[in-house]
Amino acid sequence: MAVKVKRPGIDAVIAADLRILNHIAQLIESEIPESRRYHPVQMVQYFARSLAKETDLSHELRYMQRFARLYDGHGFLHIPKVFPAYSNRQILVQAYIDDTLLKNIAIDALPPDTGRALATHLTDALLSMILQQGFFHADPHPGNIFIGHEGRITLIDFGLVGQLSPSRRQEIITLINALIERDQFAMQFVLSNWAQDQLPDEDMLGADVLEMMMNYENMSMKDLRISQVINDITQITRTHGLTLPPDLVMLFKCLITLDGVVKRLDGNFELVGHAKPIVQNILQQRLKPRTLWRHGKIQAQLLAQVADQFPQNLLRLSRRLQKGQLGINLDIARLEQLNNQLDKITNRLTMGIVTAALIIGSSIVMNINAGPKMFGLPFFGLIGYLLAFANSLWVIWSIWRSGKH
Ligand SMILES: Nc1ncnc2c1ncn2[C@@H]1O[C@H](COP(=O)(O)OP(=O)(O)O)[C@@H](O)[C@H]1O
Ligand SMILES: [Mg+2]
Repeated sequence: MAVKVKRPGIDAVIAADLRILNHIAQLIESEIPESRRYHPVQMVQYFARSLAKETDLSHELRYMQRFARLYDGHGFLHIPKVFPAYSNRQILVQAYIDDTLLKNIAIDALPPDTGRALATHLTDALLSMILQQGFFHADPHPGNIFIGHEGRITLIDFGLVGQLSPSRRQEIITLINALIERDQFAMQFVLSNWAQDQLPDEDMLGADVLEMMMNYENMSMKDLRISQVINDITQITRTHGLTLPPDLVMLFKCLITLDGVVKRLDGNFELVGHAKPIVQNILQQRLKPRTLWRHGKIQAQLLAQVADQFPQNLLRLSRRLQKGQLGINLDIARLEQLNNQLDKITNRLTMGIVTAALIIGSSIVMNINAGPKMFGLPFFGLIGYLLAFANSLWVIWSIWRSGKH
């Protein structure tokens, strides 16, 4: 038995750190407008969520159960058996693995064949998790990999696990295939799909993707490092002001870690080249009549649903049009802001006109030699002038104040 225990008191420390981090992110977001496209606050929230999962061992237990089910009876991939009855959020009990951790193996002393076989198996295991299951171990470093007899690979430490939606998985498959086939347009299509709220300039994006692809053209598959591809993609998205979807972070982390490990096991290992048959197999599966029929059936059902409701929806729409009730959503917050501003402008104008009227009125009154007097001048004329003077001060002050904003 191996028992993993959460460090006591760690929750309070993490919570305090996250509060500070969140505060800093809010500060950055409000003070540096350019930072907003990276969504610092959202980033901290995402980080907090994955950290919460990582420190709650019941998640890890469930992930291990799911992986064990998926890879039950697999040729070389093994997941330690877990004991839910003895585990909770703080304690994870699992079968003891009596093999050697990869980090304790002198890789340089291994026969080249063994190194290559291990690299191949590890890559197969992780690519299958990513591309076929969309559910993968995101931290496959040598401290989390046991190597046993006849190349049995046991993965431990499922604290960091990545998940990809079916559509995201599809995009990754298209992307890897684009890389293998040097298909610039497919690559551009996926990248521009990843732009969350911004629309990229397709011509410029195309030019940058083409340049990236041309760089790879002179490279053999052996030298094409996945970390460099990820770096280039991140660079392109940054130049075009695009934000990568946060679920890709786990995938990138997994691939970069895997790339480092397999390169150490076999200096000539082609990670991207190795993905080729897997990716093309999946693509071929997709074109099989049975898959097409299944997908087609789902689409047809959706279409039937739309068609079914179409007449009612059309009727409702036309009725509303006739009654002039077709509402359009407006940005109310902006509208209110505009309203406030209009209010201010009107107030200032009114005050200006009243002031002008007071001055003219008082001047006329000053010339009439009747009514009560003060300092030898007509009393009402004098009052008018004083009021006009006070109003002018207000108008000037209000213009000066708004000019400062
Ligand atoms: N099932 C196991 N059998 C044997 N040793 C284990 C097992 N699980 C973990 N260990 C040992 O404990 C270390 C830390 O476990 P791990 O799950 O990776 O925790 P952490 O999240 O702290 O990295 C491993 O590197 C390994 O030496
Ligand atoms: Mg670990």
